[in-house]
Amino acid sequence: MRIAIIGGAGTLGRHITAELAKRGHDARVLGRSSAAFPVDLRTGAGLDAALADCSAVVDASNSQRRPRQVLVDGSSRLLAAEQRAGVRHHVCISIVGCDHVPLGYYRVKTEQERVVTRGQVPWTIVRATQFHELAASVFAATARYRVLLAGRLPIQPVAAAEVASAVAAAAETDPAERRIQVAGPEVSSLGDLARTWRSATGQSAVLVPVPLPGRVGRELRAGGLTTSQADVVGRVTFADWLAASRAAEG
Ligand SMILES: NC(=O)c1ccc[n+]([C@@H]2O[C@H](COP(=O)([O-])OP(=O)(O)OC[C@H]3O[C@@H](n4cnc5c(N)ncnc54)[C@H](OP(=O)(O)O)[C@@H]3O)[C@@H](O)[C@H]2O)c1
Repeated sequence: MRIAIIGGAGTLGRHITAELAKRGHDARVLGRSSAAFPVDLRTGAGLDAALADCSAVVDASNSQRRPRQVLVDGSSRLLAAEQRAGVRHHVCISIVGCDHVPLGYYRVKTEQERVVTRGQVPWTIVRATQFHELAASVFAATARYRVLLAGRLPIQPVAAAEVASAVAAAAETDPAERRIQVAGPEVSSLGDLARTWRSATGQSAVLVPVPLPGRVGRELRAGGLTTSQADVVGRVTFADWLAASRAAEG
C-alpha cells in the first residue's frame, strides 16, 4: 500500500515511516521540510499533489506553537484533500485522556479528534500515552538549570517505536472507526521517572515537585494521563529505553 505520513520525520513519524517500510509498504513522508513531498497543513499547500495514489494517510503532525492551526484547521484541510484524492483511511494520532484533562493543548487534540470523527473519510484514532522520548527531553531541558520536574503525577510512558507499530498495524488494515489506546508497561510517578533519568544519566539535579492546582491537578493526580484499558501495552520501560538509547549513543 502507498501510505502518506504527515510529519513522517518527527519523533513518532520517523518510527511509523520505518515500521511501514519494514512491512513492505510505500511510506511517503510529508511535511514542510520534506524534499519530495512538501506540504503545509496551515495553508493546505502541496497536499493535493502529495496525496495522489495514496490509500491511507497517517497524521503524525504536531505543533506546540500553533496547535489549533495545524491540528484542527489542518485536519479539516487534510481531510478535504484526502476526499479529493480518494484516500480510504485516515489515521489520527491522539493522546490518552485528552478529553478529561482540561489543558489547552489537550482541548485542541480533542477538537482534532472531533474533526476526524465527523469527517467524510473513514478513520482510526490511535491514542497514546506520553512517549519516553518526551519525558527524557523534558528532563534534559530542565537539568540544564540543575532541576528536574518531579512529584506524584502518575504517568505511563511508552516508547514511540512501540506506538509506531500499533499505528502501522492500524494503517494497513480497514478503518476501525474507533479509538485504539496504546500505553506504556507501567504507571510511575513523575518523581520516580526523574530519579530513573538522573541515575541513568549521572546528572546532578534537584527534584522539584510540579504544582498541580485546580481541576487540571485533580484530573492529573487521579491518573488522567494513564489507562488500565489499553488495547496495546508496550513492553519497554523508561529505564530499559534510557539504557538502550544511551548504549546507541555510544
Ligand atoms: N510527544 C508525546 O509524548 C505524544 C504522546 C501522545 C501522542 N502524541 C501525538 O503524536 C503526534 C506526533 O507528535 P510528535 O511528538 O512525534 O511530534 P514532533 O516530533 O513535533 O513532529 C511533528 C511533525 O509535524 C510536522 N509538522 C509541523 N507543522 C506542520 C505543518 N504546518 N504542516 C505539515 N507538517 C507539519 C513536522 O515536520 P516539518 O517540520 O517538516 O513540517 C514534524 O515532522 C501528535 O499528534 C501528538 O499530539 C505525542
